[in-house]
Amino acid sequence: MMGLYTIIKFGYAIVVFSWLLMVWISLNEAKEMEGTQYPPCYFNPLCSCSKSIPDLGIVRCKDIHLPLIPQVINSSKVFMLYLENIGLRDIEPYFLQSTSLYKLCITKNLLTSVPEEAFLGLERSLWELNLSYNDLSTVPNKALRYLQKLRHLDLSGNDIIEIAPDDWRGLENSLEILMLSNNAINSLPADAFSGLPQLDTLDLSGNNLREIDPSVFRDGMGKLTHVYLADNQLSVIPYQALQPLKLLKYLDLSYNVINKMQAQIDQLNPISHQEFDYDLSLDTLRLDYNQLTIMESAAFQHFDVLNKTYLDGNPLHEIQESAFVHAVIKELYIRKCDLNDISPLAFGGLENSLQILDLSGNNISSLPEEILHRFNIIHTLVLGGNSIENLDPIEFLSGLHLILSIPWF
Ligand SMILES: *[C@@H]1O[C@H](CO)[C@@H](O)[C@H](O)[C@H]1NC(C)=O
Ligand SMILES: *[C@@H]1O[C@H](CO)[C@@H](O)[C@H](O)[C@H]1NC(C)=O
Ligand SMILES: *[C@@H]1O[C@H](CO)[C@@H](O)[C@H](O)[C@H]1NC(C)=O
Ligand SMILES: *[C@@H]1O[C@H](CO)[C@@H](O)[C@H](O)[C@H]1NC(C)=O
Repeated sequence: MMGLYTIIKFGYAIVVFSWLLMVWISLNEAKEMEGTQYPPCYFNPLCSCSKSIPDLGIVRCKDIHLPLIPQVINSSKVFMLYLENIGLRDIEPYFLQSTSLYKLCITKNLLTSVPEEAFLGLERSLWELNLSYNDLSTVPNKALRYLQKLRHLDLSGNDIIEIAPDDWRGLENSLEILMLSNNAINSLPADAFSGLPQLDTLDLSGNNLREIDPSVFRDGMGKLTHVYLADNQLSVIPYQALQPLKLLKYLDLSYNVINKMQAQIDQLNPISHQEFDYDLSLDTLRLDYNQLTIMESAAFQHFDVLNKTYLDGNPLHEIQESAFVHAVIKELYIRKCDLNDISPLAFGGLENSLQILDLSGNNISSLPEEILHRFNIIHTLVLGGNSIENLDPIEFLSGLHLILSIPWF
C-alpha cells in the first residue's frame, strides 16, 4: 500500500511539474512574440503591421537598414510607430502630419537633431514620444513645443549636456514622465522643471551631476513622486533641493559617491541652514553603492518616514548607536557591506517600526542577542553569507522568521 501511495504521489508531482513548465514556456514565448506578433507589412515585409491600408495600426521596423521612413507612412493612419535600430539619420519635416500617431518611438538610431516641423499635425494626437539612444546634443524643444497632449517623453541615451526651463515650453499641461537618463548633463539650472506642474516621474540617472542646487525644485513640483538620480557624481544628499517636493515617494541616489549622511553646511549662509528643518518622508530611499563608511548616531535625523531603505554595497564598517533614530524604517537592507560586528544599540529607535532587516553578505562573526529582543514587530531577519557563530536559532523563534542562509547576489 505504502509503495502504491508513494507512486501516486510521485506521479501527481510530475503532472503538476509539467503543467508548471508548460505555463512557464508559454509565458516566455508570449514575451518573445511581443515585438513580432503582427504580419509583415505590404510595403516592406521586414516590418510588421497590425492592420493593412489605409490604417496600418501598429507598425514596427527593427534591426534592419532603412535610412528613410517608408513613404507609405505619410499617407496612412498609424496608431503606433516603432523604428528601432534602422540607421535613421533625420525625420523629414511634415512627414508624419496625417498619421494621427498616438505613440512614436525612434530609438537606437542616428538622429542628431529634429526639425521644428517634424511633428506638425500630431499636436492633439501624440501622447508618447521616445527618442532614446540617438545622438541628440540638445532637447529638440522647437519640435516638442506643439505637442499639447504629450505625456511621456524619453530622451535617454543621447548626448544632451545642458537643459533649460524653456525646453519644456508647450508641454506644461501634459507631461507626466520625463526620462533624461544616460546623457551628459552636468548641472541643473534654477527652476529646471518648474514649467511642468503635472510631472510625476523624473529620471536623471547616469548623468554627470555633482550637486543639485537648492533652486532646482524650489517652487514645489506639486505632483512629482519619483526622482531617479542614480549613477551620478553626488557626494552629499541634496536635502535642501528635495525639501520642497512634498509628494516625493521614491528617491534613488544609488551609485553615487555619497560619503556622509549629514546635510552640507551652506558656507555662505550658515544661519539660513540652521533654520532649515529637513524632514523627508519617503516610501523608498536608495543609497546603495555609495561611499558611506560610518553610519553615525542620528545619521537619519533628516528623515521621517522611510518605509524601505537600501544601503547595500557601501564600504560600511561601523553603525554607531541609534544611527537610524528619528526615521520610521520598516524594511532595512544593508547587504554586501563591510560590517564585522554590530553594536547592541545600532538599531535603537527602530524598535517599533522595523519588520525586515537584511544583513546578508557581510562578514559579521557575532551578533549580540539583545539586538533581536529589542525589536517588537520584526518578522524577517536575513543573515546569509556571514560567519555568525554564537547564534542559537531556538532563542529567537518567538515570532521571528529567521533566514540564516539564503543565496544572495
Ligand atoms: C506628406 O503628406 C502631406 C499631405 O498629406 C504632404 O503635404 C507632405 O508634403 C508629405 N510629406 C512628405 C515628406 O512626403
Ligand atoms: C524607449 O525605448 C527604449 C528602447 O526601445 C526602451 O527601452 C524604453 O523603455 C522606452 N521608454 C519608455 C518610456 O517606454
Ligand atoms: C509607507 O507604507 C504605508 C503602508 O504600506 C503607506 O500607507 C505609506 O503611505 C507609506 N509611506 C510613504 C511616505 O510613502
Ligand atoms: C572576516 O572576519 C574575520 C574575523 O572576524 C577576519 O579574520 C577576516 O579577515 C574577515 N574577512 C574579510 C573578507 O574581511
